[in-house]
Amino acid sequence: MRSFSRLIQKLVCPLLFASQILAIPSIRIDITRPGARISPTMYGVFFEDINFGADGGLYAELVKNRSFEFDKPLRGWQLIRKAGAEGRILSFRDELNRPRNPRFISVLIDNPGEGFGLANEGFRGMGLREGGEYRFSMQARKTEGDISAIRIELVDGEGNVLADAKITGFASDWKAYQCNMTSSKTEPEARLNIWFDDTGKLDMDMVSLFPEDTWKGRKNGLRKDLVQLLAELKPGFLRFPGGCIVEGFDLSQRYQWKNTIGDIDERICIINRWNSEFRHRYTPDYFQSFGLGFFECFLLAEDLCAEPMPIINCGMACQFNSAELTPMDQLGPYIQDALDLIEFANGPEDSKWGKVRAGMGHPEPFELKLLGIGNEQWGPQYIARYKKFAAAIKEKYPDMQLIATTGSDATFFPNGEAEVEYLWAQYRELRPEIVDEHFYRKPEWFLENTGRYDDYQRDGPKLFVGEYAAHARPDNRNSWRCALSEAAFMTGMERNADLVTMSCYAPLFGNENAWQWRPDLIWFDNLDSYGSANYYVQKLFSLNKGTHQLEVQTTGIPALSEKTDALNISAVLDENEGEVVIKVVNVADKQIEAKLELSGVEKGKVDAKVIVLTSASLEDENSLKEPKKIVPTEVKQIMDRPQFSQTFRPNSLTIIRIPFK
Ligand code: AHR
Repeated sequence: MRSFSRLIQKLVCPLLFASQILAIPSIRIDITRPGARISPTMYGVFFEDINFGADGGLYAELVKNRSFEFDKPLRGWQLIRKAGAEGRILSFRDELNRPRNPRFISVLIDNPGEGFGLANEGFRGMGLREGGEYRFSMQARKTEGDISAIRIELVDGEGNVLADAKITGFASDWKAYQCNMTSSKTEPEARLNIWFDDTGKLDMDMVSLFPEDTWKGRKNGLRKDLVQLLAELKPGFLRFPGGCIVEGFDLSQRYQWKNTIGDIDERICIINRWNSEFRHRYTPDYFQSFGLGFFECFLLAEDLCAEPMPIINCGMACQFNSAELTPMDQLGPYIQDALDLIEFANGPEDSKWGKVRAGMGHPEPFELKLLGIGNEQWGPQYIARYKKFAAAIKEKYPDMQLIATTGSDATFFPNGEAEVEYLWAQYRELRPEIVDEHFYRKPEWFLENTGRYDDYQRDGPKLFVGEYAAHARPDNRNSWRCALSEAAFMTGMERNADLVTMSCYAPLFGNENAWQWRPDLIWFDNLDSYGSANYYVQKLFSLNKGTHQLEVQTTGIPALSEKTDALNISAVLDENEGEVVIKVVNVADKQIEAKLELSGVEKGKVDAKVIVLTSASLEDENSLKEPKKIVPTEVKQIMDRPQFSQTFRPNSLTIIRIPFK
């Protein structure tokens, strides 16, 4: 179905904005013939552990390298000693007894002097809040001497003690110990000190510091402020865990979900593939503890009332890196992982993997319906693997909706456009339920491609715009310019809601002090967080997605260039609220007045809501200092149905919600 509105727009009014506007643009919406249902999954979120999005971000653990499994056992740790102190730290590897978490450290204290200890630097420091309670925990065993106690301190940048506690009574076999502390001050860059006051030898592992105040107060939980920002988006789905994370630099580093569930000390820590990906943003201390693993992702999706959408490795490593392939005759374990994942999510309590889920505290199924086969894969190698996965999954789970990929942004990889065409030709035969497309392009591209989906073939798979963000080189900042261009593009997705059933911005999180990739939807440091301008665009579309698409006919819309319209419009019906929702993105730097006409609505004056997102300059952005510089404002306005005029501010997204009865 071609978008009628765009056709009319193109035929009737190819006016250049630079010239005089001859007529007031008119926007006509007929509510008597609602079109496609807007998918409840239309706007979702994509979580990947990039930019310290999990460890050092969403996952609330404050200790970096708690299991000593990083490349260097003491990365993130430092020996601290005062006058007269003598001792050493050894690292052991016990593969026999602890195959999944083999390393531990042994602290040998020959003379505690005035202080012998260990400090952990956290993730660019640790964020503590005044009055906040923190739980220190560790596994330990006393193997020599008479270590009666250790002292735990949380200190600020100057070394002032903000909280302290003692742990006593160590046994000679491995046991778990813990104590709670309350911080006397808010501090963004605190550190953890562990002091040893006796001589002897203490073995330690899984040294952790966790705020008690996590999302829903969960142990091993998530950072509350960050989940809150996600919850406010009301996402329709949660795509996880990546991204290139799924693929790994090589297959040894691929995401293996079975290594990310169960007891946290049984989760196999590996390097994060973004660790050394970008030279200019080199982060040698970036690893994956998997404290936030697949179980927690499913739980997060459930908390957000979002459909879980795991992406699994299909026997292919990142095609920008090693591009390793698993031989076709060795795909069995990969396919089994996919089948087991479905059982883990949905299986009854007495099934093998359903039992594991129940053992983790979730006897009810997670009701998984969507599964991505590979992240950004392309070429016949992918198609061959996709076929094998699809055959095995559909045989056992015919209702599972599979998501196939069209590779990365086609401008990123060799012969991208041709590769994408090849894949689409295959998909018309193979008929995955959904096909995923990615775009990281200039804001101008988004403005020029609002009609991209108008001409797509309708008889094949549904479309998932699975990763997109406007990138304004060279800085790739979350400017209003980028956010506005995405809003214009999103009107095009919405106008084609019969085809585009899912979309999400990428990436989701960026740690201000440890990012690799920019722009990102949500930014944070150790204490604070904020949504970018792009976040508010996503939020407004998500909260105003309505239930049914409506056809929009326009005349007199000024054109800014051959391919760019000044006003980009979509309209939906919200049956639940009894409202027509009109989204207008004015990408001109002048205000534009337009005449709106709604047919099929009751006549007469009515209270409408007008929500506007804009900023004085296209280069404006939100920041930790000014987190609310670009946020929506909402006013009530009386509209005289069925016809009224509305002025759209320069460079703005306007949403009008108007009752139709
Ligand atoms: O979103 C950042 C990265 O971009 C993702 O990991 C990958 O899928 C894409 O190339």
